[in-house]
Amino acid sequence: MKRLGIGFIGGGFITRFHIQSMIGVRDCDILGIMSKTRTSAEESSALSRELGVGNATVYDSITEMIASPDIDALWICAPNFTRIEVMEEIVSAIESGKGELIGVTCEKPLGRNMAEAKQMLELAQKVDLLDGYLENQVFAPSVTRGKEIIWARGAATTGRPYLARSAEEHSGPHMSWFWEGELQGGGVLNDMMCHSVEEARFMLTAPGASRNSITPVSVNAYASCLKWQRPEYAQILADNSSGKTDYLKRPAEDFARSLIEYKDENGERLVVETTTSWCFVGAGLRLSMELFGPEYSMFVNTLDSDLKVFFSRKVAGAEGEDLVEKQNAESGEMPVVSSETDAYGYTAENRHMVQSFLAGKRPEENFSDGVAVTELLMTAYMSAEQDKTIQFPPSGLDDFIPAVAIGEWNPNQ
Ligand SMILES: NC(=O)c1ccc[n+]([C@@H]2O[C@H](COP(=O)([O-])OP(=O)(O)OC[C@H]3O[C@@H](n4cnc5c(N)ncnc54)[C@H](O)[C@@H]3O)[C@@H](O)[C@H]2O)c1
Repeated sequence: MKRLGIGFIGGGFITRFHIQSMIGVRDCDILGIMSKTRTSAEESSALSRELGVGNATVYDSITEMIASPDIDALWICAPNFTRIEVMEEIVSAIESGKGELIGVTCEKPLGRNMAEAKQMLELAQKVDLLDGYLENQVFAPSVTRGKEIIWARGAATTGRPYLARSAEEHSGPHMSWFWEGELQGGGVLNDMMCHSVEEARFMLTAPGASRNSITPVSVNAYASCLKWQRPEYAQILADNSSGKTDYLKRPAEDFARSLIEYKDENGERLVVETTTSWCFVGAGLRLSMELFGPEYSMFVNTLDSDLKVFFSRKVAGAEGEDLVEKQNAESGEMPVVSSETDAYGYTAENRHMVQSFLAGKRPEENFSDGVAVTELLMTAYMSAEQDKTIQFPPSGLDDFIPAVAIGEWNPNQ
């Protein structure tokens, strides 16, 4: 195949990021969008046309979109709680001969728990779809270039890296469903530690080596609700959700950390340390990735940007996210991430997915990786709930649902 026709499921925040990134991706066109709210699909279609990355048709159903001969692959970008219904409709459309697809990609997390993540993988395999797991951070240029240099120079001459630190923090999600443990699958641990554990695992894995070359041994995690359970902040969440979100009674964690011990090919100990929070108030989204070995280190901090602007107190204007994702201020000295789609990895991620599908190959980051990430996150929830280090893999992992995902977690009780 020469060009890939892409259809998006979901027309929200992340779909807009993907559409923008396609400016830097060759050999594909965005030719369809289906979303639960038609207006969001229409807005995404308009953006795609305006940017010249595809004359996307708005479809009323996933089945109709698959039936179009224009569509070769789907990008699943709908909310977490719709994963299984979306994937089941894809499989049913293919099995009943309504249309054909080469592949499907899915945003993080692959599922809200092990049962869902494994079902996503099984469903994709049932109809022989190539599968891509959309973990953008393992495609971020500073991460891939940093890994290349560290392994080629430092690790090759003085020994492999043994410690990876990864953090993702911002002031809280943009839509109310993210805040609901049952809909999202958890709090910030599920929402953002998925990025950090996978990025850190990627950095500690030798270039070209398989995922199994390093093995998780144990997981120790902690979760709490530091900010959003304070009455004045819980009230903001209630107001933003017409009273549905109740962080006094049913909070989700807004801070979490984990320490994952791995062993390498020779049985040597490696450590991944992650921190995630929805209670960080700085200029905006802060991604921090670090890697340490016997004679070297590597540091990434997306808020240490090369571009900074300054606005005096006389500059007044509307609030926006035009400088950086999850921006918190419009004055003083502000960092600007000049191309967020590139810096966060969306462009390279989509380039890899498109080229893999066109070549008929399974992407390097696929649903099996999404399942492996879910295993680590669920073990982290077990550890936080039991307040102890858990040996990996723990028994009962496949049936485990975090207390926060059934509305039964409250650090104040
Ligand atoms: N990689 C990242 O850094 C990143 C960032 C943000 C979101 N995400 C992930 O992307 C997914 C979407 O997040 P978002 O921020 O775009 O959410 P959003 O709420 O902004 O958008 C979701 C879209 O899906 C549509 N939708 C809802 N139910 C649907 C259904 N059953 N079928 C089809 N469409 C449906 C909504 O109308 C909306 O247009 C989530 O799984 C989230 O975890 C990833």
